[in-house]
Amino acid sequence: MRNRILEYFRKANGAFVSGQQISDDLQVSRTAIWKHIKILKERGYVFDSSTRKGYRLLHAPNLLTELEMQSVLTTETFGRNFVYRESIPSANALAREEARKGAPEGTVVVAEEQTAGRGRLQRGWLSPYAKGIWFSVILRPHFSPLEASKCTLLAAVAVTRALRSVGLTEAVIKWPNDILIGNRKLVGILTEMDATMEEINYIIMGIGINTDVVRVDLPQELRGVATSLLLEGVRVSRKELFAKVLAELETLYRRVEKEGFAGVLEEWRKLSGTLGREINVISATGTFSGVAEDIDEDGCLLVKTPGGVERVIAGDVSIRNKEKN
Ligand code: BTN
Repeated sequence: MRNRILEYFRKANGAFVSGQQISDDLQVSRTAIWKHIKILKERGYVFDSSTRKGYRLLHAPNLLTELEMQSVLTTETFGRNFVYRESIPSANALAREEARKGAPEGTVVVAEEQTAGRGRLQRGWLSPYAKGIWFSVILRPHFSPLEASKCTLLAAVAVTRALRSVGLTEAVIKWPNDILIGNRKLVGILTEMDATMEEINYIIMGIGINTDVVRVDLPQELRGVATSLLLEGVRVSRKELFAKVLAELETLYRRVEKEGFAGVLEEWRKLSGTLGREINVISATGTFSGVAEDIDEDGCLLVKTPGGVERVIAGDVSIRNKEKN
């Protein structure tokens, strides 16, 4: 109901809307409308009211609440079940709890702030209040658990597409799934899975996009290596970008469920900033350097070294600066 009421104000674009008209259209009492508006005010919406003309919306909060998101979502399932929190330790952790309780595919968990955001390789993930999009999507795919790691590549392609569409044309993917501008990280992706040998129970696709992070938000050790849309000179509405990312994720995921991962891998290659570059690799089997040649059908990185081609399943890659070679 509240979303339907808000819809009137959004359409009116700052003009007055009569409470009587809303109550007639939606067939609820004037008192009920007034109560909903009171709740909206408590949630950060600012209204102006006039006994003659009704109400007009002066300000909507810049938050990723369900109410704000429902007006911009274009997806069928992704984000249609929506779990919003102002502050939680980790969206991935809460998504896992929700998945265990049976939350449907496409459920999105989003927080304005994560107090213990998790990154790959046991690292943390800085997630200050309303300065990024910190979210997780629950997937329940039908493909084999052996294919699951490629969901991470899918996520990287989807987010890069969305970023390029808002003007960040130089966003590239660093294997397997960091999104960089120059050599600085803008987006991190952490995919977790619960599965048996035969089937996937659920996948949690956790994505962190630095939108409004500025230098003072970053601890010293991240200043040279992290960036944000704002630091790159691109101002976006977080909810519009979030809606775009969810739309891209849903499109690619549906395609993969029908046709497999080949198309996503092909697009990953095109958006990659790693292929063809001299890189250093830190993996479980050791540290080495070489030229990133390709990814194989499993999404593993193929690195040409003097001793032959190494296949990297998991690890950390850094791109070597050309000037230094
Ligand atoms: C990385 O690059 O190390 C991965 C970072 C992933 C961060 C996201 S933010 C939403 C979700 N919840 C978490 O705790 N982590 C992921």
